[in-house]
Amino acid sequence: MKYPRHAGVWKMLTASVCVALLACLHAQELRGHISVILLGATGDLARKYLWQGLFQLYLDEAGKGHSFRFHGAALTTTEQGQEVIAKVLESLSCPRDTAPARCAELKDQFQQLSEYRRLKTAEDYLALSKDIEAWVQREGLREAGRVFYFSVPPFAYADIARNINSSCRPGPGAWLRVALEKPFGHDHRSAQQLATELGSFFQEDEMYRVDHYLGKQVVAQILPFRDQNREALDGLWSRHHVDRVEIIMKETVDAGGRTSFYEEYGVIRDVLQNHLTEILTLVAMELPRNVSSSEAVLQHKLQAFRALRGLQKGSAVLGQYQAYSEQVRRELQKPDGFHSLTPTFAGVLVHIDNLRWEGVPFILMSGKALDERVSYVRILFKNQACCVQSEKHWVPDQSRCLPQQIVFYIGHGELGSPAVLVSRNLFRPSLPSASWQEVAGRPGLHLFGRPLSDYYAYSPVREQDAYSILISHIFHHRKDSFITTENLLASWVFWTPLLDSLAHEVPRLYPGGAENGRLLDFEFSGNSLAFSQQPLEQLVPGPGSGPTPSDFQVLRAKYRESPLISAWPEELIAKLADDIEATAVQAVRRFGKFHLALSGGSSPIALFQQLATGHYGFPWAHTHLWLADERCVPLWDPESNFQGLQAHLLQHVRVPYYNIHPMPVHLRQRLCAEEDRGAQVYAEEISALVANSSFDLVLLGMGTDGHTASLFPQSPTGLDGEQLVVLTKSPFRPYQRMSLSLPLINRARKVAVLVMGKMKREIAVLVSRVGHEPRKWPISGVLPDSGQLVWYMDYEAFLG
Ligand code: BG6
Repeated sequence: MKYPRHAGVWKMLTASVCVALLACLHAQELRGHISVILLGATGDLARKYLWQGLFQLYLDEAGKGHSFRFHGAALTTTEQGQEVIAKVLESLSCPRDTAPARCAELKDQFQQLSEYRRLKTAEDYLALSKDIEAWVQREGLREAGRVFYFSVPPFAYADIARNINSSCRPGPGAWLRVALEKPFGHDHRSAQQLATELGSFFQEDEMYRVDHYLGKQVVAQILPFRDQNREALDGLWSRHHVDRVEIIMKETVDAGGRTSFYEEYGVIRDVLQNHLTEILTLVAMELPRNVSSSEAVLQHKLQAFRALRGLQKGSAVLGQYQAYSEQVRRELQKPDGFHSLTPTFAGVLVHIDNLRWEGVPFILMSGKALDERVSYVRILFKNQACCVQSEKHWVPDQSRCLPQQIVFYIGHGELGSPAVLVSRNLFRPSLPSASWQEVAGRPGLHLFGRPLSDYYAYSPVREQDAYSILISHIFHHRKDSFITTENLLASWVFWTPLLDSLAHEVPRLYPGGAENGRLLDFEFSGNSLAFSQQPLEQLVPGPGSGPTPSDFQVLRAKYRESPLISAWPEELIAKLADDIEATAVQAVRRFGKFHLALSGGSSPIALFQQLATGHYGFPWAHTHLWLADERCVPLWDPESNFQGLQAHLLQHVRVPYYNIHPMPVHLRQRLCAEEDRGAQVYAEEISALVANSSFDLVLLGMGTDGHTASLFPQSPTGLDGEQLVVLTKSPFRPYQRMSLSLPLINRARKVAVLVMGKMKREIAVLVSRVGHEPRKWPISGVLPDSGQLVWYMDYEAFLG
């Protein structure tokens, strides 16, 4: 054999052999076989997103030399499972630019590689493991790894984990990755427990806790954006320039259909503790030198968690959409009186105690049944500029008077797609041009107060679903897109004290959708947050914190021959509200509607508040609200009885507007003019709508002079006769009034008279002794013809 003479030739030869060897090794690496086991393969999440994500993984990676098999697993029988999976696989979609024939071919390949199998016992897992090994051997492949995706409820975790660990781990040299879906605990203690349990089966590096928000394209872009725009952001990303950060997820859907989960968790655990907190840390963390190092990212995140200032009760506002408790009662078969305290809306103010963010408010907000579906992070910069020229001369990329903001627009909303927006007066951002493109102009579209043209706006060239992205990140071992045990526990350390302190808090009820109006608006100052609209004065405790009907220290007695209920004010109001609700429910059951006539004045205000906040089962949709009397002032006047009703009850409950019957005291721009026949009009409305003109319930008060409704002593009208509604005169301002007459009141099925306070003590004693003398004391004329009269007096009025 002849050898080349020159050393250089030898070198060349050795080098080429090495390259060939490396290529060989590389090829071997690439030829690795990956088994994906989807647990809960027939469930909702799997059907909606996970199978599609796995298909995408196959499309992206199979061409690069990897081989795959997909094992859908569940507890369902093989036959049923196969049927479901076949349907799901049929409905998969290919990327937009794939020709139909090619798509069919790809789907067919994927179907060939996918199977359904029942996984229940340790033997089932062992059999799966054996199957995988046999396949790998038969095909001459090398096993690269196994992914187990847990799309199952957390109570099933431990068993599955045990089975995988004992019977289905891949052999040496191949990796194991398990993807887990939230909830990861309920508070710090339960999260710790679950983590310890999982830790006994898997190593930290093997676990991929999924927060699908980390897979949303815009969220995944926050760190790269900060990195690629370091130069521009370095001077801006701190308390010196940032005015506030808003992290928002608004939803229009409600929790109907999943109350069994939602009742346990509520909005803070469901969304704020995970999705919004993850985003918060991405915005707030110090930027590692190398943002592609998972380890560095996770460590910096952890530091951000540690800098979060502890939350207090006052750091949050809570709401609950009105239909929620009813949904819970229906779906979870709870008794009629059950009221949930679970918040479906929360706003929380977060501060970060470090040099960068000291003093900058981070507002986290999320809710169900809101007016729109949109998620975003908005960083609003401080602006001390003062421009002298009028706005029409402002140039969007120069004027310092225009708002300066960066918005990571996660999705939906007016824009309808994910995007990164940067005010033109800040800087032109740099985004990877292969995957992000400028958003085409949309004249007329305004976002955060400014036309779209005021922003540099970029959106992904190809929109991708979060789960597809995360599945790909699992495959590529991108741990920074997942929640480590340390980060998870740090998040729970932060949230648990607040959750504990809010456990008995009564959320503000909101009607849902556009009707919420300004009800949920909130504002912050210092460390706390409060609803902007006057909080309902909690004169009475809400459900849960207050007494239950059986706790009432109520005294039952007789007053003027009729039943008397007496208690301390709070209990009295709660009892009256309960009785009204019971009457309402009964009336609606029997007649399909409930006609309630309410008086004005100060005593009923606490009652209105109680009805507004604590009576979730009240059939408002079938309730007609009438006024027992009214002052002759415009309805919007603070003195108007209707205004009191509006402020303390109507704006908080959902009564159809055609069921609300204010007294027509203001017709033709005049107040209670005889010629306008307002009293007759009201009487006619009553006759037309209320069967027999017999209200189901009339609520009255008693004045210190013995007046009731607006029927005053010596009144020439309304004490007897045919008239149902009358104009009267009051000795107090405003003098002119409109009132139901005594004969009409006495037609009611039930009359409740509410008397509260020391001031009423004297008249209460007097009236207890007098006979039927309505001319002197109109209240003494209240005696329903065939209905029932009940007196509700607090101890101060009754006992002095
Ligand atoms: C889930 C919550 O994690 O996120 C749901 O459990 C919520 O309550 C959902 O509706 C919102 O996700 P997306 O992707 O629709 O914004």
